[in-house]
Amino acid sequence: MNDTFLKACRGEKVPYTPVWIMRQAGRYLKQYQAIRKDNDFLTLCKTPELAAEVTIQPIDILGVDAAILFSDILIPVEAMGMKLEFLESRGPVLSPPVRDQASVERLVIPDPDKDMGFVMETIRILREKLKTRVPLIGFSGAPFTTATYMIEGGSSKNFLQTKRMIYETPETYSMLMEKVTATVIEYLKAQIRAGAQAVQLFDTWAGIFSPGDYREYVLPYVRKAIEAVKNWQSGEAGEPVPVIYFVGACSGLLEEMKISGADVTGIDWRINMDDAIKRLGNVSSVQGNLDPCALFLPAEQIEKRVKDILNRSSSARSHIFNLGHGVLPETPVENVVTMVRMVHELSQK
Ligand code: CP3
Repeated sequence: MNDTFLKACRGEKVPYTPVWIMRQAGRYLKQYQAIRKDNDFLTLCKTPELAAEVTIQPIDILGVDAAILFSDILIPVEAMGMKLEFLESRGPVLSPPVRDQASVERLVIPDPDKDMGFVMETIRILREKLKTRVPLIGFSGAPFTTATYMIEGGSSKNFLQTKRMIYETPETYSMLMEKVTATVIEYLKAQIRAGAQAVQLFDTWAGIFSPGDYREYVLPYVRKAIEAVKNWQSGEAGEPVPVIYFVGACSGLLEEMKISGADVTGIDWRINMDDAIKRLGNVSSVQGNLDPCALFLPAEQIEKRVKDILNRSSSARSHIFNLGHGVLPETPVENVVTMVRMVHELSQK
């Protein structure tokens, strides 16, 4: 198996910089669209053979160094008892939104093997199919980002309802966060038991906070999740599974994120990698951070930016190349293929 990605997660020497792409399975691939045409998104997530098939598509097409489970961060929220729909026009809708203590009390902490068994089955199928190829990344939303969808009832622009709950009824917020954190911990452990070889926590929206609010309302819960998963593993036989922590718009928060406990920190594109590494105190490996829109540029300009990121990452413990956020549905596939090849060629040691 190509283990450059796992080695880089652990900070070990690698012959070249491994690369994978957030949201690498998805609508920018015609092979994904062909399967999606006959199946709605949730059906894809809940049908292990199909979920496994679309997980592998980008491995074949792009030549990336890791696979990421095809699923969604909102799957465990449905298992907690909320109604989940994906509407073509609006994206995800969760109902009714969680806005008070009574609705927090109604939420359950799911049994992942029973209530999300299809995810674990997808992982088992994938490990078998990927055996001699690349490692498999499992994932969960980080507690805060997951909670925003529950409180807002879907996506949001300014997260008013979330901040309102935090500032007006902090005890309701912390009760919700404790339940979400417990769910995330059990969900990640189940994915690791099923065979996930690394796990990523997506904290897409944590960048909406000042450093002080992030430290108080986001960090304690994600730290607890990372620590619980790591402590549990250290009691198990076998190689420890690295934890990646991605925060969207993280540049104001890096000094706080130092103590997340993650093996790898995911960096968005709004900051230079060398600056991010310095401000993180080089406590972890780093992942990132090409602007997803750079994939719409001509090849020579993509190359310039890939080189720049590789240069700026030279001071890192280890670097895993990625975008600074998910690949956009309109992205020309040939540019993604070119970018992956460039990372491999330009980073040869
Ligand atoms: O990375 C991968 O290839 C694995 C699959 C994956 C999906 N969602 C599939 C998906 C992963 C890791 C996610 C994570 C996710 N989901 C996040 C965190 C990462 C990020 O992008 O910030 C978030 C915030 C979500 C919630 C979500 N799911 C939204 C807001 C939407 C609608 C907007 C959109 O991108 O379509 C989704 C739907 C979704 N999740 C799709 C896919 C492939 C598109 C569904 C379709 O085919 O119509």
